Amino acid sequence: MNKKINFASKGIKCSVEIEVHSIKKKIESIINTNSNVIFLIDKKVLNVFKKVKNYKNLKYIALNCSEKIKSFQYYSMICSKVLSLGVDRKSVLVVIGGGTLGDLGGFIASTLLRGIDLVLIPTTLLSQVDSSIGGKNGINTSFGKNLVGTFYQPKLIIIDPYFLSSLPKREILSGYAEIVKHAIIYDQKFFDWLNRNSKDIFKLKYHVLCKAIHKSILIKKIYVEKDEKEKLKNKYSRAILNFGHTFGHALETYYNYNKRLTHGEAISIGMMIATTLSYKLNYLSFKDLIKIKNHFIANGLPIENKEMYNKKIFEIIYKDKKNTDNKINLILLKNIGKSFFKPNINLNKIKKLLNK
Ligand code: GLY
Repeated sequence: MNKKINFASKGIKCSVEIEVHSIKKKIESIINTNSNVIFLIDKKVLNVFKKVKNYKNLKYIALNCSEKIKSFQYYSMICSKVLSLGVDRKSVLVVIGGGTLGDLGGFIASTLLRGIDLVLIPTTLLSQVDSSIGGKNGINTSFGKNLVGTFYQPKLIIIDPYFLSSLPKREILSGYAEIVKHAIIYDQKFFDWLNRNSKDIFKLKYHVLCKAIHKSILIKKIYVEKDEKEKLKNKYSRAILNFGHTFGHALETYYNYNKRLTHGEAISIGMMIATTLSYKLNYLSFKDLIKIKNHFIANGLPIENKEMYNKKIFEIIYKDKKNTDNKINLILLKNIGKSFFKPNINLNKIKKLLNK
């Protein structure tokens, strides 16, 4: 199965190519069509180079990846390494790895020589369906995550689902949470299709997996094209993609982004909270609430966590939003497949509703 998506809105020129077992020919084609290619690669997937012709001549920087690489220290170190390998305005930076490396690599490409071409080759499900798409990048500071970064679109995103075969189930599930998020916010039919096919996604049946990845990216593309810089506050706002993320991020912060809670697990709980609120505020029917809940349970996505109503979580949300009047914006649902931007909901009201 071979699928291609082109972003075609003003200012965004990016192609996404999805094909199983394509990595060797895609890397060779990039090398053959560009004069200077520098790879930034996660050490875990370094063996992909062994398949490539003349791999001993490749210019690359290999890193052990964890959240700690998203720092000024690594940014500066990698920029120096890339510069020492020799770089000009026609050079291409190819980043092969998960979302963490993509975030760092995207920021480096956008700032080196005021911007060199970027190709992303995401190797986890989460990065294939979400973080590689849309041009957000960044590093963390002591003030918080992703506070320094740019919007910078890659020229090309290459997705080879074969990379997923070596990932633990928990990591697949983490990416699946973003796939189901895309269905819930925008496409009821896709949600119903996931209900019928999710088991085959977890078995990594490639034709089903490729379809889920493709569909998921098409949905994200709609929001990125309409609102690349996240300025709108309506149903087309890119912020809609943050469905479940307000509570999800607060939980991740509470757990200090450690391995006890993956991003997907945190946003699953966050999505269940946003879904429950949509029901309690009379926007969503009980039937849809139960459909979503049952889908999560059937697929092993967590729907709750003992810390989710902890006072600290609300304090984190409050602090994170830096608001003065205790109000937050949330993404809520009218139906499965129909979401909206709800501004200025009082946090105390939310607390009360959730405790009822
Ligand atoms: N993951 C949300 C966004 O890219 O806007």
